[in-house]
Amino acid sequence: MLPERGLLTCKTALFCHRDRDDVRILRDWQLKAPEQIQTARLLLRRPVPADAESIFHRYASDPIATRYLSWPTHRSVADTQVFLTWDETEWQKWPAGCYLIFRRGDDHLLGSTGLSFKTPTHAATGYVLAQDSWGHGYATEALKAMVELARGTGVGRLEAVCHVDHSASAHVMEKCGFQRQATLLEHTVFPNLTPAVRSDVLAYAVIL
Ligand SMILES: CC(C)(COP(=O)(O)OP(=O)(O)OC[C@H]1O[C@@H](n2cnc3c(N)ncnc32)[C@H](O)[C@@H]1OP(=O)(O)O)[C@@H](O)C(=O)NCCC(=O)NCCS
Repeated sequence: MLPERGLLTCKTALFCHRDRDDVRILRDWQLKAPEQIQTARLLLRRPVPADAESIFHRYASDPIATRYLSWPTHRSVADTQVFLTWDETEWQKWPAGCYLIFRRGDDHLLGSTGLSFKTPTHAATGYVLAQDSWGHGYATEALKAMVELARGTGVGRLEAVCHVDHSASAHVMEKCGFQRQATLLEHTVFPNLTPAVRSDVLAYAVIL
């Protein structure tokens, strides 16, 4: 992960505290994650309200891309706006929230990921990509960035679940160092797959 202008990577921030400015940066980093993160091929950035249309059209309204997600496929841009309003409160309350995933260079929207904090040291993550972006290693690259971000914001346990049939997602987590903890029976409703029925999920976690 490369440091953005005015931002520090976790490791840099933790060890860079020689003068007053750096102490302030260290404190800010602990309180708030950077709003933009660069990886080799991706730019991850906090969403803004103007992103609603592109999120809706790229993946949130796609029944295939959202099949294994825990939220209903968006029916209108208003649904996406509701999500962005909710995410704004997450960012205000916690060190981070959702990040949109863009291809570096042309800023093409690929999908989203993020951290969902349960406590300051316990968070969950997830990811979704537009169909035309599958199979390029983007989910793995974005999830690795979320693991580093979680570590940098003081998370000790980062969790994720996927439907028992979702082998691709399980493989992404394993490539990023997550370990399978359990199969949780009748645990999660996947509203676009089997509404009103709780499905079995694979529970993964990485200890940071
Ligand atoms: C699941 C998803 C995130 C994967 O994104 P991606 O960018 O294609 O993933 P990556 O390319 O980083 O890695 C996928 C890995 O799974 C493998 N894979 C793909 N289909 C697979 C399958 N059916 N079974 C097992 N492994 C599979 C790929 O070969 C690749 O592994 P490799 O790098 O060792 O070859 C993407 O398909 C997606 O957004 N789906 C819709 C949303 C979703 O389901 N999100 C997850 C909810 S838990």
